Amino acid sequence: MSGTAPFTVAIDGPAASGKGTISRRVAAHFGFAHLDTGLLYRAVGRKVLEGTEPVDAARGLRAEDLEAPGLRSAEVGQAASKVAAIPEVRGALTDFQVAFARRAGGAVLDGRDIGTVICPEAEVKLFVTASDEVRAHRRFLELKDGGADVTETGVLDDLRARDARDSARATAPLRPAEDAVTLDTTGMSIDEAVAAAIALVEAARL
Ligand code: DC
Repeated sequence: MSGTAPFTVAIDGPAASGKGTISRRVAAHFGFAHLDTGLLYRAVGRKVLEGTEPVDAARGLRAEDLEAPGLRSAEVGQAASKVAAIPEVRGALTDFQVAFARRAGGAVLDGRDIGTVICPEAEVKLFVTASDEVRAHRRFLELKDGGADVTETGVLDDLRARDARDSARATAPLRPAEDAVTLDTTGMSIDEAVAAAIALVEAARL
C-alpha cells in the first residue's frame, strides 16, 4: 500500500462489544487515524439533553463538543441512540465521516453503519459482537471504575434497550455488512481480539 492511498477499516457492532478498544489499537498498530463515530452521536445527544433541538445540534456540532465532560455516561448513550434514529441528524454527520474514511494514509472508524452506509467500499469490514452478559459485565466494570453508581443488571437493561433501538430503526440500522467478517469476542481476551483484527487487516493489505 502506498503511504497516501485511502485504506479504510470499518468496525461496527453493538454497544460495549469491544469495538472501541480494538479500533484504537488497530489504528495505533498501523499508524492510521481513528474516529469513534459514536462520539458524534453522543455529543449531539448531550446537547439535546441540554435543550437544543436534535437537527440543530447535529448541524452545529463543533470539534470541542467531542471533548465535553460526561459523553460516556449511560444517560448520554441513550440520548445518542434516540437522536441517531432521526435521518436528518445522520445526514448532518455523514460528510465528515465519509471524508475521514477516505483520508490519505488510512483510517479506522467504529460505529453502527460504517461498513453498510458510510464506507461500503472499506478495504476491511469487521462486525464485533459478544454475548449480552459479557458486554454488560465489561461496561459495568468500566463505569464503576469511572466512579459511576451502577448495577450490572441496570447496565444490561441499558445495553439491550440501546441495541434494540439501534437495530430496529429504519435509517442505517445496526447490522453487519454482507461482506463483513464477524468477530465474536465473548470468550476472547482483549489482546486476542486485537490480534485477530490486526491479522485481518494485514491480510487485506497484501
Ligand atoms: O458507539 P457508542 O455506544 O458510543 O454509540 C452511542 C450511540 O450512537 C449508539 O447507541 C447508536 C449511535 N450510533 C449510531 O447510530 N451510528 C454510529 N455510527 C455510531 C453510533
